[in-house]
Amino acid sequence: MPLKSESLLVYFFGVATMGLVMSMICVVVPPVRLYLAKIYKIYADYTPIIYPSDDQLTPVSKRRLNLVGKKTLVLDMDETLMTSWMKKHGKDPKNRPTIPHDFKFYLPEYGATVFVYKRPYLDHFLDRVSKWYDLTVFTAGVEAYASPILDFLDRGRGILTKRLYRHDCIDVFGLRAKYVTLASPDLSNVLLLDNSSTECSFNAGNSIHIKSYQIGSRDEALINLLPFLDALRFTKDVRSVLQRCTRFEGLTTFLERVTQ
Ligand SMILES: *[C@@H]1O[C@H](CO)[C@@H](O)[C@H](O)[C@H]1NC(C)=O
Ligand SMILES: [Mg+2]
Repeated sequence: MPLKSESLLVYFFGVATMGLVMSMICVVVPPVRLYLAKIYKIYADYTPIIYPSDDQLTPVSKRRLNLVGKKTLVLDMDETLMTSWMKKHGKDPKNRPTIPHDFKFYLPEYGATVFVYKRPYLDHFLDRVSKWYDLTVFTAGVEAYASPILDFLDRGRGILTKRLYRHDCIDVFGLRAKYVTLASPDLSNVLLLDNSSTECSFNAGNSIHIKSYQIGSRDEALINLLPFLDALRFTKDVRSVLQRCTRFEGLTTFLERVTQ
């Protein structure tokens, strides 16, 4: 009977299609749900601290600021403000970052192209702190490498014009030390922001340690520092705070002690 076998065929295909649809739902839905939940979590966690562009201070705060004077904030560059990645001519290394770069340039001295990745919130951070502090960039990098990057990060604002490079570092037992006194001789009014705990140790009492920026990571270290930096500018001597909360022993003192 042709009719019976035909309906059996339809029945069979119906069941097969339903099974296929069901298994596809089981395979596809959980990862999609997980992905949506992840996006929602990022969105829910995302609470950047945005400061207003004008410094809304009470008369008392204004008076206080006039009393203590403007301070100098010394900024490290590599892995504090940005992280770079170099591609030597003719070579294609495997650790190429997966996110797009912000800036690139060719460095003839190294025969390499430098790719620059800004730390998240860098522009907002520089905007705010440049109103609160005199900025100086102090990098252990050479001038040929660092100066195009700093020009790019400055974005024509004229806030990263004071710069110290590798040749300004002082050799301390084979280590390149950045002393903040080069940026401003008055230790009560100068502080360093650096990802290197060694550099922080050389300036114990005047430094804030920040974790290294890894290209592509979700990073809020700069923006989370804003309230702290906002408060520090009102102190008479930054060391009154930084010396107490620092976890670094004075490295210079330590090295002098052990090498005697
Ligand atoms: C910090 O940044 C420097 C470059 O400025 C880099 O050489 C160093 O590996 C980074 N990390 C630490 C933990 O010092
Ligand atoms: Mg660094």
